[in-house]
Amino acid sequence: MQKLTMTDLNRVGIDEFKEQDKLPVVVILDNVRSMNNIGSAFRTGDGFAIQKMILCGITAQPPHREIEKTAIGATQSVDWEHYENTVDAVRALRNEGYVIIAIEQAVESVMLHQFKPEQDKKYALIFGNEVNGVSDEVMAEIDQCIEIPQFGTKHSFNIVISAGIVLWDFYAKLRLQG
Ligand SMILES: C[S@@+](CC[C@H](N)C(=O)[O-])C[C@H]1O[C@@H](n2cnc3c(N)ncnc32)[C@H](O)[C@@H]1O
Repeated sequence: MQKLTMTDLNRVGIDEFKEQDKLPVVVILDNVRSMNNIGSAFRTGDGFAIQKMILCGITAQPPHREIEKTAIGATQSVDWEHYENTVDAVRALRNEGYVIIAIEQAVESVMLHQFKPEQDKKYALIFGNEVNGVSDEVMAEIDQCIEIPQFGTKHSFNIVISAGIVLWDFYAKLRLQG
């Protein structure tokens, strides 16, 4: 089978991307340490046409060579903001009408396959630090928590793998399944 070329893929340019309809999702990175992860999160957010990334606390900001290694330009297409404090970002988004959801393993979490995003809502999805996860202060502010089921030996997924799984799930449920 012949693979598609760049021309076949026919992607939109940055200007067109900025204007296009977005998935009603903002991604919050709560003190993410690795610039490779931050760049990959941008690339993933571009692929699913999210509204915005909110980089909180120690999460490094573009422009940065180490972020670009994995973002490969997605820091230009995906809008982003920085907040010193993740709780402030969460409160600002709640005031704007977003449903606040931690993507985390927690006692009262809902499993991803059982969660049904609603067409008339907008969502702020919080992903946590590579070691500590979503901070306790932030967990105290959320409306809901979504967990991705796991079936192997490891306790958790890499943060950006989690973002890819969850964003694809939201995209499919909101845009591809009526
Ligand atoms: C490597 S994990 C952090 C693991 C950390 N040991 C903890 O206690 O939370 C980094 C982030 O990926 C996401 N994550 C990883 N596995 C997940 C899962 N099975 N369900 C939901 N989120 C997950 C969460 O956002 C988490 O904060």
